[in-house]
Amino acid sequence: PLIKDLFGLTELEKQLCSHLGLKRVVIVPGDADRSDWVKQEMGRAGARLLKQLARPKQVIAVAGGTTVAAVANMITASPGLKETTFVPARGGLGEAVELEANYIASLMAQKSGGQYRLMHVPDQLSDDAYETLVREPHIQEVLELVRSARIVVHGIGDARAMATRRKSTPSLLQQLEREGAVGEAFGYYFNRQGKIVYRGRSIGLHVSDLDRVEYTVAVAGGSSKAEAVAAICPVVGRDTLITDEAAARAILAH
Ligand code: G3H
Repeated sequence: PLIKDLFGLTELEKQLCSHLGLKRVVIVPGDADRSDWVKQEMGRAGARLLKQLARPKQVIAVAGGTTVAAVANMITASPGLKETTFVPARGGLGEAVELEANYIASLMAQKSGGQYRLMHVPDQLSDDAYETLVREPHIQEVLELVRSARIVVHGIGDARAMATRRKSTPSLLQQLEREGAVGEAFGYYFNRQGKIVYRGRSIGLHVSDLDRVEYTVAVAGGSSKAEAVAAICPVVGRDTLITDEAAARAILAH
């Protein structure tokens, strides 16, 4: 708290909280775009929060990306999380394997001493293959766990950066541009008004499922994500945003 006050971050947290309509905002000093250390600090704050929120026999659904991976890396064994089952919020989204939700769920389980279940669903499927796969008993079982999640942890990305990282086709890149996509969160692309303009087909949690979730945690920082966070948080976020000073100041400046 002392460090935060020194940077004036407590006041900034309050302002951002009401600006985005969230219950809680945690701001770490710095800019994740400039220093990886800042991302690690967001990860530390995320891991601390999960430890505090833990309840026996809960399910935590996690999305992919480097920031949620930073949370996973900061988790340490704790009695509360030991009884947690970690699941991926969604199936594959075309990321490098270490940034996939599946991998991050397994990493969180490993670090915390908890359990995990995986969802092996390729991201590029034909309609027929998709329909068949979704009906598989094993997939249904994991999907039910995902939908029963008490907590959801997800990152937020800049739309163009995410589409490029996921090697989207030129036609999808153009479509996103046309639709004015500014941000991305678990496979959904949002425009500046927070409207979903594109949804990659993947099995798992839908935005509408978030209504049933008890606690949402968004983790995203860096000034380049300001627009994305400002668009997505009021729609998808409800409880906590963990961000950095650079993103917070950029959001409030607009
Ligand atoms: O869905 C959001 C992105 O996965 C964020 O990824 O944390 O690597 O920027 P990142």
